[in-house]
Amino acid sequence: MSEARRREEIAPGDDLHPGDPVVIDRYTTDARVNHWLTAASLVLLALSGLALFHPSLYFLTALFGGGQLTRAIHPWLGVFLFVGYVGLFFRFWKVNLWTPTDGSWLAKLHEFLTGHEENMPEVGRYNFAQKTVFWFMGLFILVMIGTGLVIWDQYFGSWSTVEQKRIAVLIHSMCAIVMICIVIVHVYGALWARGTMTAMLKGRVTGGWAWRHHRKWLRELAADKADRGSTTPAE
Ligand code: HEM
Repeated sequence: MSEARRREEIAPGDDLHPGDPVVIDRYTTDARVNHWLTAASLVLLALSGLALFHPSLYFLTALFGGGQLTRAIHPWLGVFLFVGYVGLFFRFWKVNLWTPTDGSWLAKLHEFLTGHEENMPEVGRYNFAQKTVFWFMGLFILVMIGTGLVIWDQYFGSWSTVEQKRIAVLIHSMCAIVMICIVIVHVYGALWARGTMTAMLKGRVTGGWAWRHHRKWLRELAADKADRGSTTPAE
């Protein structure tokens, strides 16, 4: 990897293709497969978990072949989600590190929320809200796999007392509710900024999208391209 590729906002695989429109590779195929498998496992986990959470939601067990199968499948989905998120974590943790821009972005949050993104500081590959979602997803998944193992009686039943299991199940359920809310925010954000779904579905975005939402990232990509020998910066 060259010096230029070490710019802080650029992730492996990111690349800018000059043209009309400018097209930018944002997610590799591997990253997208990793993301969608993780996302699918979370949706199935939420459905199977809710089915076990309250009798009024027991009907959801029909999706998994009945109560016993739901109970058996749910922890394995949790393992799958954990492994999937570890993959996403190692791909993206660096570009989710806090930078001074995040502080100034947060200070102008009201502009963002009232639809005046043009008044916000220039943003790198992710904005403060996306980074917060990223770290909180990781934190909650960690707590949920930890507490999940404590209550996975089939394999770890003898490792903890009934009292410990009760506490674990309480924390597990509370974190699940927060996690579902975090994912709703994540999906809302993805749908709200037009063109963002294309990033995760097709792997690429337009220069216009990057200019509007992640201008610092776009500038670094253009500079990187110039450093690597192209004569066409993005602006
Ligand atoms: C279920 C529906 C979901 C949809 C529609 C969705 C959509 C998206 C989209 C469009 C992006 C690209 C955002 C951008 O490039 O600015 C993204 C990024 C990402 N998503 Fe999802 N997602 C979903 C679920 C999940 C779940 C369940 C997880 C993890 C538990 C997850 C983890 C991530 C991560 C880690 C990124 C990279 C962003 C970052 O590193 O900050 N997503 N998602």
